[in-house]
Amino acid sequence: MLQNIEKLLEEARQFKAGTKEEIEQFRIKFLGKKGLLSDLFARFKEVPAHQKKETGQKINQLKQFVLKKIETQLENLGEEGVQEDGQDLSLPGPPLALGARHPISIVRNEIISIFGRLGYTISEGPEIENDWHVFSALNFPPEHPARDMQDTFFIEKDPDILLRTHTSSVQVRVMEKESLPIRTISPGRVFRNEAISARAHCIFHQVEGLYIDENVSFADLKQTLLYFAREMFGKHVEIRLRPSYFPFTEPSAEMDISCQICGGKGCNVCKYTGWLEILGCGMVDPNVLEYNNIDSIKYTGFAFGMGIERVAMLKYQIKDLRLYFENDLRFLEQFQAAY
Ligand code: PHE
Repeated sequence: MLQNIEKLLEEARQFKAGTKEEIEQFRIKFLGKKGLLSDLFARFKEVPAHQKKETGQKINQLKQFVLKKIETQLENLGEEGVQEDGQDLSLPGPPLALGARHPISIVRNEIISIFGRLGYTISEGPEIENDWHVFSALNFPPEHPARDMQDTFFIEKDPDILLRTHTSSVQVRVMEKESLPIRTISPGRVFRNEAISARAHCIFHQVEGLYIDENVSFADLKQTLLYFAREMFGKHVEIRLRPSYFPFTEPSAEMDISCQICGGKGCNVCKYTGWLEILGCGMVDPNVLEYNNIDSIKYTGFAFGMGIERVAMLKYQIKDLRLYFENDLRFLEQFQAAY
């Protein structure tokens, strides 16, 4: 009998529960009405007198051990969080999917970073503007057809209030309040009354740049834009400037970059020209400097402006502008932010 108790003690020592169920079975096996312990107590009377004391002690020891064991096993289970239904609450949770940055944000941050390396600050201004900051201070004469170049949303009751059609308005605000030299870019949302299609939207984003100092030349503009194009699209990119017209710059140009898909040979992305249009630029018109109380004899400057959607389309081969606004996760999850 002593040997038997010893064996049961060993069995109880080895016992390790995974669930509450197993502990309950263990309890029934040892402490239940027909359990091992009541069996031992029942057979106690058969134990020879001289072994009674030792045997009795052993049986009690076993009983105490089993009780203690049940207690500690229940505690352990509680700690590890295994529930009655076998669910282990201590397991790590399913991984949370991390969101991705919107491609417009990625490209905007990249543009900001590139011009930041050239010493450009960031300026912001209101989206609801007045005529002065969007047009007049930028040398759009009243009634001039150039105002039609940008289909403006006006507030019906007060045509002086409008949604800015470009962030050049921010540059006027910078010229008003900051001292020279000025070297700043203005990223922001702009609005034009256009029908929504794969190539046009009534809301889009721009980054415009302004640099005013003594002796700023067209060569500085070209070099700045070449640096930008190569940082943004790769070091083999070529640029070309085509004469253009903007009321606030003279001379004005539009910049193309060599098509990265075909390397300039011609393909359907660049419509077999080898070039892709990317931004407008030019030397700040002296009128604009004078409107903003800057001495146009002493100071010169250049300005440029680009659509972020357009840059992102070229960078990522996005064919339809509407994708930016539809929030389809299958689209949004494809962009990895380096910025
Ligand atoms: N503001 C112009 C536009 O929105 C872009 C531009 C900026 C062109 C600066 C020349 C110089 O189309």
